[in-house]
Amino acid sequence: MAVNSHPLVRVFPGSRCSLLLVMWGLLGCIIMFYFYSTIQHQSKGERQIGLNYLAMTRELEEVEEEYFHFPSPRGKRSPRAFKRRGPRKPPSVIDEFLDESSDLRPFFFPDHKTAIDPRKDDDVNRYLYPGRLWLDTEGNPIQAHGGGILFDERKETFYWYGENKDGPTYHAHSKGAARVDIIGVSCYSSKDLWTWRNEGVVLPGEETNLTHDLHRTNVLERPKVIYNDKTDRYVMWMHIDDVNYTKASVGVAVSDSPTGPFEYLYSKRPHGFESRDMTIFKDNDGKAYLIYSSEDNSELHIGPLTDDYLDLTNEMRRILVGQHREAPALFKYQGTYYMITSGCTGWAPNRALAHAAESIMGPWETMGNPCVGGNKIFRMTTFFSQSTFVVPLPGLPGSFIFMADRWNPSELRDSRYVWLPLRVGGVADEPLEYNFGFPLWSRVSIYWHRKWRLPDGWRNVQT
Ligand code: DGJ
Repeated sequence: MAVNSHPLVRVFPGSRCSLLLVMWGLLGCIIMFYFYSTIQHQSKGERQIGLNYLAMTRELEEVEEEYFHFPSPRGKRSPRAFKRRGPRKPPSVIDEFLDESSDLRPFFFPDHKTAIDPRKDDDVNRYLYPGRLWLDTEGNPIQAHGGGILFDERKETFYWYGENKDGPTYHAHSKGAARVDIIGVSCYSSKDLWTWRNEGVVLPGEETNLTHDLHRTNVLERPKVIYNDKTDRYVMWMHIDDVNYTKASVGVAVSDSPTGPFEYLYSKRPHGFESRDMTIFKDNDGKAYLIYSSEDNSELHIGPLTDDYLDLTNEMRRILVGQHREAPALFKYQGTYYMITSGCTGWAPNRALAHAAESIMGPWETMGNPCVGGNKIFRMTTFFSQSTFVVPLPGLPGSFIFMADRWNPSELRDSRYVWLPLRVGGVADEPLEYNFGFPLWSRVSIYWHRKWRLPDGWRNVQT
């Protein structure tokens, strides 16, 4: 029986709910209409940018498969590979990768004939080939391992700093990791991120003074440079260690020019803690941070630098505690901070993880493996490489270059560079935080490509 006898609106039990639904539906239509008309009112030019943008990024996001052709088993193997694996275990792909005598070697470390060579540039052929030798403008292999990139706005130039490892690889003692004596930090400059001119060793190692941090028998790894707008100086932070990695410190150097020479200032244990793999990050507000692996690499620490970037403040937070991560590479997109890290397996490759945070000081959440394409072993080894830096592409919001090192522990000077497109967007694999049922973080994806190039327009800022 009807409870309300109004001639026009006959309300039956439960129909109040339907009325509400109708009202919400109407509201939804109005909102959709509003958005539709807003989009319609966008200028033709803006829509064109949107279309171009899609076309430009589609190529970067193509999922490319990769296959291995295993060589037939051979009797002769390098003694080092045999020692690593033991006599019985069949070789895994990682064993083959690490075995300097493996037939798979040329697949991971292609020879000089296939090198990326800017001297042969015909302007249409500016492809990046992850893992191939990369030559500078003089035809020499680029020596900038564990590196990072600074974009100097005034000079409109990119500077790539990294470890110069162009010396013999040896083991200081039977249990020591493969090493090259400190030669110094190399710098290369470029306008297009493809043609690199050697600017020389901007922070050289020390030959005579045995007590100097940079004495060639010590360790200098992962140098990164940022520019300080207040002091008009370029500041370099790096991992400083002794041959056994027990000093576990950071070093600081400074220069008036991006191409050096850099003056080495000092080393210290940040906040009094061990520090091994590290990076620095300059935020939009000019505040800069040091991020380092600590407590036997079981966790990362993060803390702000002083205003002149030459030291640390006392503030520090422990992040990714118990996760055993190293090789941090930090970047920011739409107000969220992201970081790629590796596991801790010496020079051997392992699985990357992506992390995100709303505040740079944490808490940081782990989102899963960002690697897409290739094959399973490629994805589980970060394409046989280890993160070092992430470069933003100003003209393509949400697009970055992931920079990684394909270490060659039997010949470290021949370690290769794996640069791949990184995109932020889509739903994360392991979204630990939800907002009204929606995952809070976007997915970070690093796409495997055997060959790729930067799309036209990557330089132009589209805001
Ligand atoms: C892994 C680190 O990420 C590298 O920078 C280097 O320190 C090697 N370990 C040494 O084994």
